[in-house]
Amino acid sequence: MTPPPPQTLRLTAPRPLAGRVTVPGDKSISHRALMLSALAVGTSRVEGLLEGEDVLATAAAMRAMGATIMRGDDGAWTIDGVGVGGLLQPASALDMGNSGTSTRLLMGLVSSHAISATFIGDASLSKRPMARVIEPLSRTGAEFTASPGGRLPLMVRGICPAVPIEYRLPVASAQVKSAVLLAGLNTPGITRVVEPVPTRDHSERMLRGFGAEISVETQADGTRIIALTGEAELRPQQIVVPGDPSSAGFPAVAALIVPGSEIVIANVGLNPTRAGLYEMLRAMGGDIGFENERTVGGEPVADLRVKASALRGIEVPPSIVPSMVDEFPILFVACALAQGRSVLRGLDELRVKESDRIAVMAAGLRAIGATVEEVEDGLIIDGTGGDPLAGGAVVATHLDHRIAMSFAVASLACRMPVTVDDRAPIATSFPSFVAMMATLGAEQWEGNL
Ligand code: S3P
Repeated sequence: MTPPPPQTLRLTAPRPLAGRVTVPGDKSISHRALMLSALAVGTSRVEGLLEGEDVLATAAAMRAMGATIMRGDDGAWTIDGVGVGGLLQPASALDMGNSGTSTRLLMGLVSSHAISATFIGDASLSKRPMARVIEPLSRTGAEFTASPGGRLPLMVRGICPAVPIEYRLPVASAQVKSAVLLAGLNTPGITRVVEPVPTRDHSERMLRGFGAEISVETQADGTRIIALTGEAELRPQQIVVPGDPSSAGFPAVAALIVPGSEIVIANVGLNPTRAGLYEMLRAMGGDIGFENERTVGGEPVADLRVKASALRGIEVPPSIVPSMVDEFPILFVACALAQGRSVLRGLDELRVKESDRIAVMAAGLRAIGATVEEVEDGLIIDGTGGDPLAGGAVVATHLDHRIAMSFAVASLACRMPVTVDDRAPIATSFPSFVAMMATLGAEQWEGNL
């Protein structure tokens, strides 16, 4: 049977965007909440978990390795953990879908247990590099059989006891850092990760919250040394997951570029290792207010009030890149409508995300009339100064949720709507995206190509 054709998406803004919305729970925190709860002894409760496909892939994998995970009628999740060292041999391959975070973090967990697991995923995930975690995890004694190029499908044969390692990250990657730390949980002795460029620190925060012995030392040059004492005993927790700042970037930019808009996005996580997009948008002249600043689940949170603004082009400093690594597709859209030139470089990692986000965004932006030059490590964009883009084109999303949402938002500032060729990937991180945009006043058309 041939699969049904992909469902397309077109958004338009017949009037200014207005209203108050929330975005789903943070994807990074949701993955970690499930994994650490599944390794605690006893019952943890998680509120605000992102119920997107990526996180559900993590839940399914933790169930397959022995944890009991249930969603209550009130929307909260309960997890009965197996204890560190207690993961069971999964009966079949672990299907990671589109999720790089699930894959890399779980490879770390499995590697220090006496079990084997096969990881499979969709066409996008099967192109992504896994050598970056295979390399450090092999040093612990675990064994890996990967497809050519260090890709999925791959098999991990874990080892117990594993050897503790000290690993200096060659790329700024929270996934690699977390894979090594999670392997260290069931490893005797101290596992160390040296991080020359800080990346999101949710693993460190949450490991500490669950009672693991973990220290973080920041050196004069900004290098962080994270030391985790293994054979940890994790205590069950009550976790409240804040709204995802990466998801909030889409309505935020939508409100900035649709004239006359004013919206509030409530309960957005603003961990400094994640908030780079908002700093850059404000530096571009974006009117974004942080209201009701507070702490939720150990993470800084605020309500964002965003008003339509005349944006100016910007040059992004390389040091801010890790704190907004997932936000460049939507920042490119803002730059395409700003006054003047934006220089966005040092973005090599974008080439190995769910798609090659430099090439795919360059192609899509050009197709809708933006002036874009693609360089090896980024894009140089000459903005319209607020004039609408031509639009009218069909853009290819390449199984990448953030590409799909970025062009759905760009469509709001085009003379002719943009057709996103496949809306399905949006469900990996933001299943309620289209409904939320409708709440703000956007109109949507479905169709098939
Ligand atoms: C993530 C880390 C980032 C990010 C991904 C989620 C995480 O990847 O792109 O969406 O939860 O640790 P890298 O660490 O590979 O940059």
